[in-house]
Amino acid sequence: MLNRTHAGLPADFKRDDKARGAFVSALRRYVLEDLAAQMRSDFTTRVAPSRPREAWAAEGVHEALRSRDSFRFYSALRTCSQDLLYQVVRAPIERSQERLQRHAAALGSFGSLTLDPDLPVPRSVTAIDVHLMPGSYHTQYGDQDLTMGAVYEHRLRLSTFGVFGPNLDDIGQSIARFMRQRYPSWRPQRILDLGCTVGHNTGAWKDVFSAAEVHAIDVAAPCLRYAHARAQAQQRAIHFRQMNAERLQYPDASFDLVFSSMFLHELPRRTLAMVFREARRVLRPGGLMLHMELPPANQLGAYDSFQLDWDGHYNNEPFYRAFRATDLAELLCQTGFAAGTHLQHVVPSWHALGPRAWRRAVAAPESKVDSPQTGRLARGVRWFCFGAWRD
Ligand SMILES: C[S@@+](CC[C@H](N)C(=O)[O-])C[C@H]1O[C@@H](n2cnc3c(N)ncnc32)[C@H](O)[C@@H]1O
Repeated sequence: MLNRTHAGLPADFKRDDKARGAFVSALRRYVLEDLAAQMRSDFTTRVAPSRPREAWAAEGVHEALRSRDSFRFYSALRTCSQDLLYQVVRAPIERSQERLQRHAAALGSFGSLTLDPDLPVPRSVTAIDVHLMPGSYHTQYGDQDLTMGAVYEHRLRLSTFGVFGPNLDDIGQSIARFMRQRYPSWRPQRILDLGCTVGHNTGAWKDVFSAAEVHAIDVAAPCLRYAHARAQAQQRAIHFRQMNAERLQYPDASFDLVFSSMFLHELPRRTLAMVFREARRVLRPGGLMLHMELPPANQLGAYDSFQLDWDGHYNNEPFYRAFRATDLAELLCQTGFAAGTHLQHVVPSWHALGPRAWRRAVAAPESKVDSPQTGRLARGVRWFCFGAWRD
């Protein structure tokens, strides 16, 4: 798994590193597929019958399962495998630091990178090791350092065991292609990706809307350095800037699409509205704000909601549950997006289906949000996204 890097950036993975990587990836898949299925079955057959179906809520499922072996085994191994992911990728990347930096410095001139050393990185990023990632996103070991970006990319590759596709961009590819197929007259000219990390999903927008100017922001400098190097190595012109999504440094009405993926659930609940208002401000009339995210609690059944909320309890994701509990339509209205402009889709995975089956799936009636595939690392994953048009 670790040698299957398509980012074009070198890292010194030795045979032992690759073997460890393969083991951790397989362990994680076993936890998320097999152990998760056993826990679900334990709940459905032995726990759920004790109450009427409608009496269950996500927190109740959590409480009822906490003392059961199925939950404890799942949770212990899941936490352990998360920890191992970082251990496995960290050492080889530290060994490769100088090589990575030299390689990044020698790359071509696609796109740009603008860092702001004076930008305060929000406490929501610095105060914890987000999803147990030692050093979170922002820690840097020198002014050319790319370590956290490289760690993020390689750990993502191992932890998603192929579901995100060879370039880790299934979310971006699936949603960008979906928008082109569903809204054929919509052609964004300027695109902004918020909280892009290593830009893996940003690049898909450039692939699908090749004439567009694509920008991406994040608060974490080492991730942005890596993102820029990655995009250059892949010959994609993307403009990366270090910036806080709560205070965008772009003029009013300057974008046709403001996108994000897996970003909002890492924001403190109170900043969500600021991010939406800023997105609206920088959108041109007719532009779209679109977020790929975890499906909200009010659209999922109790068990599926419990399973998604697991990260909020045990994976250093302190804002996860508050985000999932948010009434998205209400938040959109509060931030100026009129009710008739809202949209929501469940998008089939481009990589899981392949081009022909995918086109057929997109043309067919849309899947329901409430399914074990939506927003999950499961076979046949589908991506939940929502947003609103700027009137
Ligand atoms: C889960 S990652 C996003 C992953 C990525 N967009 C994807 O498609 O997988 C969250 C990212 O948001 C960044 N971030 C957190 N708060 C931010 C803020 N207020 N403004 C901009 N970026 C922020 C973090 O540094 C991190 O890189």
